[in-house]
Order: sequence, then structure tokens, then C-alpha cells
Amino acid sequence: MNDSSKQGLFITVEGVDGAGKSTAMAWLAEQIAAQRTTVLTREPGGTPLGDRLRELLLHEAMDLETETLLMFAARREHIAQVIAPALARGEVVISDRFTDATFAYQGGGRGVGFEKIAQLERWVQGELQPDFTLLFDVPLEVARARICQRAEQTQGSLDKFEQESFAFFQRTRDAYLQRAEQAPQRMAVIDSTRPLDEVKAQIRAALVARPQLQLATIE
Ligand code: TMP
Repeated sequence: MNDSSKQGLFITVEGVDGAGKSTAMAWLAEQIAAQRTTVLTREPGGTPLGDRLRELLLHEAMDLETETLLMFAARREHIAQVIAPALARGEVVISDRFTDATFAYQGGGRGVGFEKIAQLERWVQGELQPDFTLLFDVPLEVARARICQRAEQTQGSLDKFEQESFAFFQRTRDAYLQRAEQAPQRMAVIDSTRPLDEVKAQIRAALVARPQLQLATIE
């Protein structure tokens, strides 16, 4: 069966900085790409304009509502140029972050009203929502240690978000977990303190529990 006879599938991957989503996401993308045409993308970014906005968002100080609006501006471009066309072709889109991140970081972390974010969500996305979301979760001590270790290994500096306080990340994590509680059918919380093999097993189990996604069992 080719992709055009299947419905598009929109998968998002979330978690606070240092939650350890990258390795597991690369594995998942590889598994799914063996079955279906898959587009792997990210936010903020995913388009040339989105990448320019990402530079500003990650490195430039700005008013918190400006930040929220720019996240959605980048998202609109991402939907128009990448996500919607791929879904219309019946492909699988896997995005490293999407709107749950805005609710968690700008809403929880920065304190922008959830209702304002929900208004932008309706405007920018219309009916579009992820079909399935993996939320990688770890205690903040673990997340902070991973970020510092990565910065040391790459001799890189931390971006604007990575430099945020423990309290900011606590609010961000809480907001993510709250959203997962409110949407248990869509969102699966993955305990990413576990070794990679166990993380993979959790992801497999989450997919098996959602036959409506119509993904064949992954290895
Ligand atoms: P990344 O490092 O996982 O690529 O994500 C970039 C940063 O952008 C990360 O710290 C989370 C932040 N972010 C938001 O604050 N709001 C959003 O809506 C998105 C998509 C990302």
C-alpha cells in the first residue's frame, strides 16, 4: 500500500531541555520510516524563515508576548510549507516540539495566559492537532545535569532557554505533565531516566495501545 492511500499521521515529541528526547526520537523516526514516508522536522524552525526566527527566539531577549507570537509565526510557516502538505500526501510527520511546548514554556514557564495561547492555537492551526505525542519526562536535576554535560562536551554555550532557572523549568515540566493528564489518549509520558532499551519498550507499548495510529509493530 502506498502512502497516498493512507491518512497522514502527525506525531510530536516534547519534553524540557535535557529530557533526552533526541536519541529515542531518531530511533522512532528510523522505525517509522521503514514503513511509511516520514518527514522529520522541528520547532521553532523547519523552514528557512522558521530557522531565522529560531535564531532570534533562542538568542535574543524579547518581551514574553513577542516570544509567544514569534513561536506561532514560525509555526504558521511550518504548517503551511511542511506539515500540511506532507499530511495531505498521506505521509508521517514527526516534529521535535509543537504547540504543547508553547503551553509549557511560554504558558507554564513564562506565565503567558493559557487562554491567549489557546486563541493563537485556534487561529494558526485551525483543526490541526497532533495525532500522537511523546512526552519525555525526567526529574529536573537529571535534565539540568544533561544540559551542562552536553555544553561541556560540545564546548558550546547555552541558549536563552537552557539558561533559565530551576523554577522556570519546574513550571514548564508541571505544565507539560498537566497537559498529558488532560489528554491521555493523545499524549504518552515516557520515563526517560531509564536506559535506552527500556525507553524504546515504553514507546512500543504506547504505540501498541493506540491501534488507531495504524502503525505496524516496531522492532
Ligand atoms: P530544542 O532545543 O529542543 O530544539 O528547542 C528549542 C527551545 O525552544 C527549547 O528550549 C524550547 C523552546 N520552545 C519554546 O519555548 N516554545 C515553543 O513553542 C517551542 C516550539 C520551543
